[in-house]
Amino acid sequence: MLVGNDVVDLHDSESRPGALHPRFDVRVFTPDEREALSASASAYPLRWTLWAAKESAYKVAKKLDPTVRFLPRDFVVGQIAEGRALVMHATGPFDVRLYRTDRWVSAVATLTVAHPSRTRGPFSAGRVSAGPTGAGLISTAVERLATHSADPSRTVREFARAALASRMNLPPWQVRIAADRGIPVAFWRDRRLPVDLSLSHHGRFVAWAASEAPATEPAA
Ligand SMILES: CC(C)(COP(=O)(O)OP(=O)(O)OC[C@H]1O[C@@H](n2cnc3c(N)ncnc32)[C@H](O)[C@@H]1OP(=O)(O)O)[C@@H](O)C(=O)NCCC(=O)NCCS
Repeated sequence: MLVGNDVVDLHDSESRPGALHPRFDVRVFTPDEREALSASASAYPLRWTLWAAKESAYKVAKKLDPTVRFLPRDFVVGQIAEGRALVMHATGPFDVRLYRTDRWVSAVATLTVAHPSRTRGPFSAGRVSAGPTGAGLISTAVERLATHSADPSRTVREFARAALASRMNLPPWQVRIAADRGIPVAFWRDRRLPVDLSLSHHGRFVAWAASEAPATEPAA
């Protein structure tokens, strides 16, 4: 199952309302999304939740169709309720799990599947627990950079590598994360691991999400 993710640091200087281009909302959001922002008592986190939902869905769409471009208004957030959003797009629709603290928002998208999904518990202290989503098991976590100067690309790969190795019972140093046209892919030695992976970093936070391939799914 393909997965896409995004994290936004709510306290990053880039995220603050004053830092945005005056036409940011018009460029990025549909009229319905802008109406939801105007009506919301918490427009600030909602703005970045909508953004993260769109970008996480884009990352799945790009895997499905390499010609897809990130045109945010083409990724339409249809509904948001109980920590989930439905994002419509020509390549979708996408089922997006939403996670939020007062410091960050994070979104994890998969293609919508017919099967009802179950959630195995919430996250705490910046970590998001693994849980079955749609047709497969998704693991995801948000982590804080240890220092301001830490390299986010390297850090998120280290976290993802350690988590995949632990979940698949492999020595971490034998797990490698490479890139296929910018999209991260995981290997054990020279063999592609049966997981789909997505990485994101913004401000002080990094986030990864991984889904198991259908072959490793438990029977329904
Ligand atoms: C993918 C993209 C949206 C990421 O944006 P971002 O918010 O800066 O970055 P994030 O931290 O959320 O994600 C970056 C990670 O996503 C992964 N990634 C990069 N391109 C990706 C893609 N096309 N699909 C899925 N994942 C991708 C990489 O692992 C990257 O991490 P790295 O920089 O450490 O290698 C951006 O790089 C991109 O490709 N934009 C599309 C450009 C486009 O279509 N423009 C048309 C508009 S007119």
